[in-house]
Formats: sequence, structure tokens, C-alpha cells
Amino acid sequence: MAIRNILKEDDELLYKKSKPVTEFNERLWQLLDDMAETLKQADGVGLAAPQVGVLRRVFIMDMGDGIIEVINPEIIETRGRQEEVEGCLSIPGVYGITERPAYVKIKAQDRYGKEFYLDGEDLMARCICHENDHLDGILFTKHVIRMLEDEE
Ligand code: NI
Repeated sequence: MAIRNILKEDDELLYKKSKPVTEFNERLWQLLDDMAETLKQADGVGLAAPQVGVLRRVFIMDMGDGIIEVINPEIIETRGRQEEVEGCLSIPGVYGITERPAYVKIKAQDRYGKEFYLDGEDLMARCICHENDHLDGILFTKHVIRMLEDEE
């Protein structure tokens, strides 16, 4: 495993649309393992492949109960609305209140290509939407309704 460099908001790769994963092979597993180590080291909640310069539809999340690997996600249901604080490892020190659905359900594939469904509320719903946006080249600042002052 290796720690990969997290691209910052001035990198044009962060604004590109990622391609679906078609091969569930060693190369993908290496990427997932590296992303897990990178997320842990950065002490983050989620990380998407384009943030480490790989334009593939892959993201990972860790809400404190271990890593969830999400490949080729599709949002199939959303409900409600929430306004909460959000940040991004690619935009360090910047936080804002975003508007997101309160509940999200996705269909995705695991590292072996097996389909699964995942749903979540609150932080999980925010995180799924945030990371899924990265795969379409969208940063959270697009959903911010109020920026917060830097409190560091
Ligand atoms: Ni992010």
C-alpha cells in the first residue's frame, strides 16, 4: 500500500467526469488499498479516485466502522433535505453549510464487481452525495448555501 497525493482544488482533473470501472483486477485493488491508506492518513471521511488523479468511478468512505468501497455508483433514491457542515480534503481549511438530501440510496459494485445496494441518512447521505459528485467533476462548494469562517 502507498499513500497517494491528494489533488487540490486548482487541479483541472478534479473538474473532469470519471469513466466507469470495467475491469475488477489487481490494479483496481491496488488503487482501493492506496486510497484507504491515503484517507486514513488524511483523517478524512471520504475520498474519490479523481482526488488522487485517477478518473474512474470509485470512492471510499469511513464513518468510523471501517472502509466502504463503492464502484460505479448510481443514486437510485433520495428523500428529504438537510443543511449541515461540509468540507473536502481537496479544499483544506474551507467549510460551508451545504444543502443535501436527508436520505440517499445507491446501487454500486464492490471490488470484485458484485452488485450491492447501500443506503444512509445524515452524514452517510452527505458523504455519498459529496463523493458521487467528485466522479462528475463537481466540488462541494457548488452546493454551499453559506460559507463558514476558517476556525483553525
Ligand atoms: Ni471531497
